[in-house]
Amino acid sequence: MSKPKVLSTRPLFPAARAILDQHFDVEYWTPPERIPRAELLKRVADKDALVCLLTEKVDEELLATAPKLRLAATVSVGYDNIDVPACTRHKVVATHTPGVLDETTADFAWTLLMAIARRLVEGDAWMRTGTWPGWDLDQLVGGDVWGKTLGIVGFGRIGRGVARRAQGFHMRVLYNDQARVSADVERELRAEFVDIDRLFRESDFVSLHVPLLPSTRHLISTEAFEKMKRTAYLINTSRGPVVDEAALAVALEQKKIAGAALDVYEQEPKVYPALVARKDVILAPHIASATVETRTKMAVMAATNAAALFEGRRPPNALNADALGL
Ligand code: GLV
Repeated sequence: MSKPKVLSTRPLFPAARAILDQHFDVEYWTPPERIPRAELLKRVADKDALVCLLTEKVDEELLATAPKLRLAATVSVGYDNIDVPACTRHKVVATHTPGVLDETTADFAWTLLMAIARRLVEGDAWMRTGTWPGWDLDQLVGGDVWGKTLGIVGFGRIGRGVARRAQGFHMRVLYNDQARVSADVERELRAEFVDIDRLFRESDFVSLHVPLLPSTRHLISTEAFEKMKRTAYLINTSRGPVVDEAALAVALEQKKIAGAALDVYEQEPKVYPALVARKDVILAPHIASATVETRTKMAVMAATNAAALFEGRRPPNALNADALGL
């Protein structure tokens, strides 16, 4: 019996390939550049499953092109690239990769937090360009981290991981989310639930950990910057459009906040031009989950979800399992 056909828009990692190759007849997209949309539509047309990245949109158009498709697995925890209701209408199971990248992403939020507070990237540029004039008293003075107030917007697994690390720096942790976590979790993480305005007003660092939803798009815009401390830093490892980049550039220019460290952008891979020349900004290329261990786990998880469905089981990380009656 012939195996079901899968398109994987990346060669993935060997451990994930081993799972896919065992269950499917797999077509891997291997060129170094991302798969062009027209190529994706062409290649997915006769497939039973798709393993894709957050850069590929699974929308009505793609689903209409692929009548046999039964599964779309994004190798990411964020799934704003997937139109889940459209998948449900087309009886396509959508899956993502929750849980395996939380600690790695929390580590990276901290990497950015420390680097922007202590002006590490500016200092690195001095060393590489031979422009360091030698030690001086007021040189590259940044902001303290120890003992400061950290405001976490979005207190899911990643936000809580960021809070856990803050204990080692004796920080006061404020958080905001749609709902409070249990008193036990608040106590364990020494985190205080506050409304978002208070979080903006009192935090020395504001770190974002919300998914991209209509309600979180441009959550951080002029109004938020007006409320934040002039000495505050913004850290974004969530999704680019959560921050209004034009408003951020203005806020930095007007010294409404002290700096920003970004891993994600409104229109990836583009960066809002006014941010590029600024020394009070760190720009990382969407690498918060980019460790060998974690990216391997993510790819394996996507492959495992695909294999489960075609073995007649409920994919463990399906986003629309209930809607599809699985
Ligand atoms: C990365 O941004 C992810 O959503 O996994």
